[in-house]
Amino acid sequence: MTTLYRLLSPKQLTEQEAALELQALAKELAHHDHLYYQEDAPEITDAEYDALALRNKQIEERFPQLAQKDSRTNRVGAPLRGPFKKVQHTHPMLSLDNGFHDKDVEDFIARCQKLLGAPPAMGFMAEPKIDGLSASLVYEKGHLVQASTRGDGYTGEDITENVKTIKTVPLKIDHQGALEIRGEIFLPKAAFEKINEERHRAGEPQFANPRNAAAGSVRQLDSKITAARPLQFFPYSAESELAPTQEKMFQMLKKLGFTVNPLIKHCNTLEDLLKFYTHINEQRSEMPYDIDGVVYKVNSFAEQKSLGFLARAPRWALAHKFAAEQAETHLKDIIIQVGRTGVLTPVALLEPITVGGAVVSRATLHNADEIMRKDIRVGDRVLIQRAGDVIPQVVKSLGAPHRSLPFIFPTKCPICHSHITQEKDEVALRCSGGLICEAQARERLKHFVSKHAFNIVGLGKRSIDSFWQDNLIRSPVDIFTLESRNEHSQNPLQKQEGWGDLSAQNLFDSISFAHTISLDRFIFALGILHIGEVTARELAEHYESFPNWWHSMKRATDIESDAYAELKSLEGIGDVVATSLINFASEPNNQSMVEHLTPHLTITALRKKSGGNQPLKGKIVVFTGTLSISREEAKQKARDLGAKVTNAVSANTDYVVAGTQAGSKLTDAEKLKIRILTEEEWNKLAGK
Ligand code: IVH
Repeated sequence: MTTLYRLLSPKQLTEQEAALELQALAKELAHHDHLYYQEDAPEITDAEYDALALRNKQIEERFPQLAQKDSRTNRVGAPLRGPFKKVQHTHPMLSLDNGFHDKDVEDFIARCQKLLGAPPAMGFMAEPKIDGLSASLVYEKGHLVQASTRGDGYTGEDITENVKTIKTVPLKIDHQGALEIRGEIFLPKAAFEKINEERHRAGEPQFANPRNAAAGSVRQLDSKITAARPLQFFPYSAESELAPTQEKMFQMLKKLGFTVNPLIKHCNTLEDLLKFYTHINEQRSEMPYDIDGVVYKVNSFAEQKSLGFLARAPRWALAHKFAAEQAETHLKDIIIQVGRTGVLTPVALLEPITVGGAVVSRATLHNADEIMRKDIRVGDRVLIQRAGDVIPQVVKSLGAPHRSLPFIFPTKCPICHSHITQEKDEVALRCSGGLICEAQARERLKHFVSKHAFNIVGLGKRSIDSFWQDNLIRSPVDIFTLESRNEHSQNPLQKQEGWGDLSAQNLFDSISFAHTISLDRFIFALGILHIGEVTARELAEHYESFPNWWHSMKRATDIESDAYAELKSLEGIGDVVATSLINFASEPNNQSMVEHLTPHLTITALRKKSGGNQPLKGKIVVFTGTLSISREEAKQKARDLGAKVTNAVSANTDYVVAGTQAGSKLTDAEKLKIRILTEEEWNKLAGK
């Protein structure tokens, strides 16, 4: 939908051209609104969207007779189609006017002053503009009774149960009258990265940025999933009168138990506001959450009231947006990466360039559609952006004097030449090769040994690649026969470059430790599409033993069977997950892999949180020093046995397990006369 006439300024357009462009813009904006609000998967950056919206507004201002009643300029979101109950907002949830330059801030102040007849008496409040999603919280008689999304500004979705899981949202406040608080729900950057890592491990598509991850988490039908995501909330307005100024309102909110953003600042002059903007902008990349600008608000509510609203935004506030961190560079090549579940991801190889403080030499091109839509070609100069300060992206092509031909997405997997498939409603293209595909097989091995799966320390990504290269490990079972094959080898590991007696022995020890694995970890380790840790645990809890689970999965291939009905009856197992499981279990390569592998393993039943064999039930355990297994694994095993693991030693601690080089926790334990165990003693106690 590129429109050449967009090169003309709105002033140069004839009425007919303007009408045509407004029509095109309406379609385009509706498309992006849908992606943003309904799919949580925008295709363009906020800055690109703002530019389109601005263009729309400028043309409408020049030709007011052409402005449609339902124009984007008068709307704040997209119509709702989700499965949530609808909630009518008491007052519309509006948006903010955007400014990009110092001059825009100057104009904002001048306009306020002109309309008020004097500079704002109580000055301004300046606040970081959190890049999350707005929510309205309604309290009655001191209790949180309803929470909703902004939706289209007039009607939102009921997300009460999910919002109740947000730790910084007080469920009870000391305020008897009805009170509506609005603010921003967001996900810290670190949590976003962790969720994406988990989704990557489960073979699921990643969220593009923390905002989308937060939106996806809030719009979960299962509030248990929301609860597992550490969402946070910063209030920014109270719809009911709490105080005479924005500044005092924040003080009240703090007293009521809300977490108020500590960076907010009272300002009086243009200089103060711009100083705040620069100060926040400088901290931006180090801040624990994403912000996309700052917001200035006239402080006095009486003055806000007299300034009022214009279309979709208040006259008393301005969002001063940050420029995205962008840079230009040369696109050297486009390669196709094949992931564990076969997803083909085009990756741009770039001339290294610094963007927002980090050197970027690769950027994701997401998928074939994106390359085509942006017409990105090898050899082009490209604009790179670190969206949300996390994943570098190619924003657009800046062309080249002599352009190469458009990039042609392969029709066969570049690694195994199997045909490529595309599921209905999915943009991702996948290699159909499964374990036949070297790239998939290798990625699956890396997943198999990873921390939350078999956790084979010493068998990292690089070792997997080199063992693969040397034909030593090509399937999970090869890991468990490695030591015995090595004993008879002409060229044992101990003699190879990069290895010695000690490192080889360590590797064999950690493999030997991994022979015993709980059923949930085992299922997760298989790397089945859509089966993350949570689903794996649910399956393990339900089916209890490996033979029972595997047999049931194979029987469930017949969707008329009781086994299929049983699978579908489990919480969290919908059509997509069920299909993925039976596809896996019916594939002969997978069957042979699993059936060769399992005789080497002891797959233990999951010890349920309550009941079961829990010899350490109620005991409080602290680990210190270096153990032969990872700390995380030791903790998990302790928890599986019913123990509670804490980080600090106190009088309530039952056991301190001390590895080598134990530090102050050991001294603490001695002082408090807590029972100290060596790792061996601990293993005995834990029944290993
Ligand atoms: S005030 C009537 N303050 O930005 C205006 N909004 O682009 C009410 N936002 O819908 C909004 N931080 O979701 C306000 N400190 C802040 C904010 C903030 C983030 C979001 C909010 C709003 C959007 C407008």
